[in-house]
Amino acid sequence: CGIVGIVGRGPVASRLVDALRRLEYRGYDSAGIATICEGRMDRRRAEGKLFNLEKKLDAEPLPGTIGIAHTRWATHGVPNETNAHPHFVAGVAVVHNGIIENFSELKDELLAEGAVFESQTDTEVVAHLLAKYTRQGMDHREAMLAMLNRVSGAYALVVMFEDDPDTIMAARFGPPLAIGHGRGEMFLGSDAIALSPFTNEITYLVDGDCAIMTHKGVEIIDYEGKPLKRQSQISQATAFMVDKGNHRHFMEKEIYEQPEIISHALGNYIDFAAHTVKKNDTAIDFGKVSGLAIAACGTAYLSGLIGKYWFERYARLPVEIDVASEFRYRELPLSPSQAALFISQSGETADTLASLRYCKDLGLKIGAVVNVRESTIAREADAIFPILAGPEIGVASTKAFTCQLAVLAALAIGAGRARGTVNADDEKAMVKHLAEMPRIMSRVLNDIQPEIEGLSRELSRFKDVLYLGRGTSFPLAMEGALKLKEISYIHAEGYAAGELKHGPIALIDENMPVIVIAPHDRFFEKTVSNMQEVAARGGRIIFITDEKGAAASKLPTMATIALPNVDEIIAPMIFSLPIQLLAYHTAVFMGTDVDQPRNLAKSVTVE
Ligand code: G6P
Repeated sequence: CGIVGIVGRGPVASRLVDALRRLEYRGYDSAGIATICEGRMDRRRAEGKLFNLEKKLDAEPLPGTIGIAHTRWATHGVPNETNAHPHFVAGVAVVHNGIIENFSELKDELLAEGAVFESQTDTEVVAHLLAKYTRQGMDHREAMLAMLNRVSGAYALVVMFEDDPDTIMAARFGPPLAIGHGRGEMFLGSDAIALSPFTNEITYLVDGDCAIMTHKGVEIIDYEGKPLKRQSQISQATAFMVDKGNHRHFMEKEIYEQPEIISHALGNYIDFAAHTVKKNDTAIDFGKVSGLAIAACGTAYLSGLIGKYWFERYARLPVEIDVASEFRYRELPLSPSQAALFISQSGETADTLASLRYCKDLGLKIGAVVNVRESTIAREADAIFPILAGPEIGVASTKAFTCQLAVLAALAIGAGRARGTVNADDEKAMVKHLAEMPRIMSRVLNDIQPEIEGLSRELSRFKDVLYLGRGTSFPLAMEGALKLKEISYIHAEGYAAGELKHGPIALIDENMPVIVIAPHDRFFEKTVSNMQEVAARGGRIIFITDEKGAAASKLPTMATIALPNVDEIIAPMIFSLPIQLLAYHTAVFMGTDVDQPRNLAKSVTVE
């Protein structure tokens, strides 16, 4: 979702809409705006694109010099007008980006106290809590802090009170929020591009910040009310650029936005309340197809490879997969009873498109797992499975990869249900794990960063690296190697751990670190045996495992990264994080052009 707020000197409505337009890439399921004029708070909301809201505002303008606005990516609740933000409760207006994880518990409590809910959103509980605390006699600041101490999850929240026409309050815990400093006016928005027509002096809020903004300036406090100092900076964002926020590179920004982005992507495929996969009503009936063919390139191919493990294991659906540049020429015998999936961030990759046309000619139903919905691959497909990752600028794919995985996981579970190979209990359990994943990702990103940075400094001294993994950790090993070579230019190979003894073991010495990806799963013991073979030959091991794995292995390592213990279905997404960060920080140490590595391009439209 995209958020904007202005405490202005003149009318704000048209400027709010202008800012929303620049945030539309963050979602356009619905949009809404609220202002206060002469002591009265009012709003306009509309389903669908911003254009619909603009039409409403033309017909019924909103006066006022203070206002907040929102463009929505639906997660909880269908994208209709009732669920559109701002949400109003008793003189409190709230817009929100993210997910309030404990909303059902809070909602039950508020319902028991007599609250009446208008929408199906998680956001409305925030407005009700604020209204309740003010009713109990707290001032606005106290109510805001009390609310922030009750809600958990990932959020950027922006709040306005009808009886205070000079203040907007905001808080960040996860999704970004930027404060813009104007002359006698103040702004806030999801990114600096949204604010670029008004000001380029920006203060980025960090997680756990609460901002109290008036036309004079902004006060930033923590959730206990203690003042915090945050430097402002001059943003280079122009209205035509996607912004890096307070990150050094787009790649870093894209790594860190994964928890938020993935929860949105999942919202399209799973029902968070019922813990089920949403019904697939596309042209592809996974319950009826006799098999799947998958073609893709680069990182998208590796997500497809992990998808193959899932479709085969959970849906008992045979999968034929290849890199698209081979697939298109293999003259693979395929039948119209099969379906074909083409995975592509850009939706424009030439080899992938050619593979799609090959399958189309053979009469297969075509599915496109894409980020860009208007792309050629999407347009030529019978069914589009959007990954909803938002614009990915860094050439090395990160968030598109984990979103592709999240979508493939949901499709595989759904296919299993349709084929009778996944029962209701298993579906519920797996979907619960998927729903928990964004929170775990946030924690992992926070926890491992310092350790990975230190390790990256060491890794940057080496010329060759070997990555090993088994099961779904094998494609992940290849992805780890791909990321590392793409941006740090260190030569890296990803191998199936069991293949080590059939060749690569000859290369092992103290100059070639071996990175082993091994969650404590059903393959763990076997992978540890392969590690023994490395250790016995003087190889240095970087062990990426979980807490159970770290406790179970006694082998000396150069470093051990212990992630939380997670279920198998989400392990590939969680274990993507250390390999992305390892590549990123190694490249930063080596001083390469992280976002635009040499000789590569984001989207390859030639063969
Ligand atoms: C290029 C990019 C890779 C990407 C591949 C496939 O090589 O550098 O990051 O994985 O193309 O792109 P697509 O847009 O089809 O996912």
